[in-house]
Amino acid sequence: MKELAGRVAVVTGAADGIGRAIAGRCAEAGMRLVLADVDRGRLEVSRAELERAGAEVLGCPTDVSRAAEVEALAVATYARFGACHLLVNNAGVALGKPVWEATLADWEWVLGVNLYGVIHGVRAFVPRMLEAGEPGHVVNTASIAGLISPPGLGPYNVSKHGVVTLSESLHGDLAVRGAPIGVSVLCPAWVRTRIAESERHRPKAERTDASRVDGVAAKVGAAVEEAVEAGIAPAEVARAVLDAVASGRFYILTHPHTKKAVQIRAEDILDGRPPTILPF
Ligand SMILES: NC(=O)c1ccc[n+]([C@@H]2O[C@H](COP(=O)([O-])OP(=O)(O)OC[C@H]3O[C@@H](n4cnc5c(N)ncnc54)[C@H](O)[C@@H]3O)[C@@H](O)[C@H]2O)c1
Repeated sequence: MKELAGRVAVVTGAADGIGRAIAGRCAEAGMRLVLADVDRGRLEVSRAELERAGAEVLGCPTDVSRAAEVEALAVATYARFGACHLLVNNAGVALGKPVWEATLADWEWVLGVNLYGVIHGVRAFVPRMLEAGEPGHVVNTASIAGLISPPGLGPYNVSKHGVVTLSESLHGDLAVRGAPIGVSVLCPAWVRTRIAESERHRPKAERTDASRVDGVAAKVGAAVEEAVEAGIAPAEVARAVLDAVASGRFYILTHPHTKKAVQIRAEDILDGRPPTILPF
């Protein structure tokens, strides 16, 4: 989708981090915006900032893990702007634990936000976009953890592999139909955001008790915090996303060194080796 000015973008997880940066770039491109996030306070701050910068912005408090709330987001978007041209399913959370230690509530939380959030977004918006028949684009935020499986991040890896294959499937289904809607899947490595504090959004009773985490979880937690701190800026990711929308690029790998990791995984599979354990 080359023409962005005047068109409508819906961004989930838009109050902070990568989503906020993508929303900022969309506003700079002259798009009208719908910002969705579960954090009402930061959502209002971001909405007001973008409005002050001259954009037309609707803020919609939304928990993307709940189908009814994402449907309400679509209803609100079409009521206000009558269209959605760019859908960015970006909201996500991370959790570092060995697979056997993740509780059922951990699995439900991570898959609920990261995978079902994207499923709900596609189900609520794509039929409306198809019916409108206008050019459009869907960006789903996965991660490099959707293409490889870093240790200590099991539920996160599962959710992000799900987002990659969901995006590939969506691309295929839209192509078979001949729809004017492009798809991209965003697969960054580390980005300087608040992702390491994802549990801020969970009810206290369900949060990881730091005094009870085992050695693996503690090691992963420290490594993730350090890696995020040394990550690239969200603005860099946002630039890559808008370029991909304009050029129709499907896979968005924002960190060139991660291509090697994808190649190693493919070679492990083809050569019959167990997965190579790659450093963070
Ligand atoms: N930061 C990284 O290193 C990194 C790397 C790869 C992929 N990602 C992905 O990028 C996306 C954005 O994460 P980020 O790094 O900007 O983190 P962040 O924590 O800074 O921002 C995430 C946003 O999502 C919102 N959110 C959380 N749960 C939600 C819910 N249930 N419904 C609606 N909104 C919700 C948060 O309030 C926050 O505003 C995520 O999908 C994440 O998995 C991040």
